[in-house]
Amino acid sequence: MTPLIVDTDPGVDDAFALAVAARSPEIDLRAVTTVHGNVTVDRTTDNARRLLGTFGRADVPVGRGADRPLVHLLGRRSAGIHGTDGLGGRAADFGPPVDESSLRAVALMASVIEASEEPVVIAAIGPLTNIATLLSARPDLEESIARFVLMGGSIGYGGNVSAAAEFNVWADPEAARRVLAGSVVPTTMVPLDLTMRITVSAAWLDELAACGPVGAALAATRESYLAAYSARFGHAAMAVHDAVALLEAITPGTVSATPLPIDVDTSTGPGRGTTIGDLRGPEAAATDGARPVDVALDADPDAVRAELWRRLTG
Ligand code: RIB
Ligand code: CA
Repeated sequence: MTPLIVDTDPGVDDAFALAVAARSPEIDLRAVTTVHGNVTVDRTTDNARRLLGTFGRADVPVGRGADRPLVHLLGRRSAGIHGTDGLGGRAADFGPPVDESSLRAVALMASVIEASEEPVVIAAIGPLTNIATLLSARPDLEESIARFVLMGGSIGYGGNVSAAAEFNVWADPEAARRVLAGSVVPTTMVPLDLTMRITVSAAWLDELAACGPVGAALAATRESYLAAYSARFGHAAMAVHDAVALLEAITPGTVSATPLPIDVDTSTGPGRGTTIGDLRGPEAAATDGARPVDVALDADPDAVRAELWRRLTG
């Protein structure tokens, strides 16, 4: 079994990702840590506790993480597409909430990594504030982290929270740069270029709702999130960004990745939070001393959707 930590800002698509992590037999879910992002860390922490309660995983410790970015405070959050409670107004339908760990996120991650007999995979599906803090506080643990699988960034797609930036990176660009460009931990980045091509339809959600209480609870979070993405796509469908990243964390090779050095715009101008993939090739990038990140630019949408369905309904 793969030891896994999920760092998350639930979040509608985070909820689908956590369900996959909680219900996959290949995974030893050692901890869930929460971060500011889609909603406040108070809400993301309560949501994570409730989601794990719904999934029957009171055995998984929840560590509360950062309530703000490392450097610059945010002027706004994501456009509210996750609802004011972060779960489409349906947070109260989930639970009962599991206990919150006495350890906060970074201490809990460090404790899990130190106690593990094998290197731990960390799936980060929100802003990277906790992960950057872990790397800064405990650089000695880097060699005990098997890989990061991050949902975030955009190579050629453009932005979602701004014209240029993807939300998780935009919410804390300094943290994202520390992780993507300042760490040696093998890293797979799952950007909008891919996640915006792997959607689920309203009909798919209706069928999921008919498969049992977990599917019904997840499908019920759709309202504002599905409306926003349906307007974007021109048909009734929504992206499940974080679930794609979790499927890759659980089954390496789910996505097809290209090694690219990644830098992050940490300016305070219109490009803040832009992820810059160096497409010149490894030789050119090497001159800058940049390390390659495995950037997931392709996958079989039907196969990923089928795998998501299997793990949510199996
Ligand atoms: O840009 C998509 C990411 O931002 C996802 O993690 C979603 O949950 C939001 O946090
Ligand atoms: Ca998220």
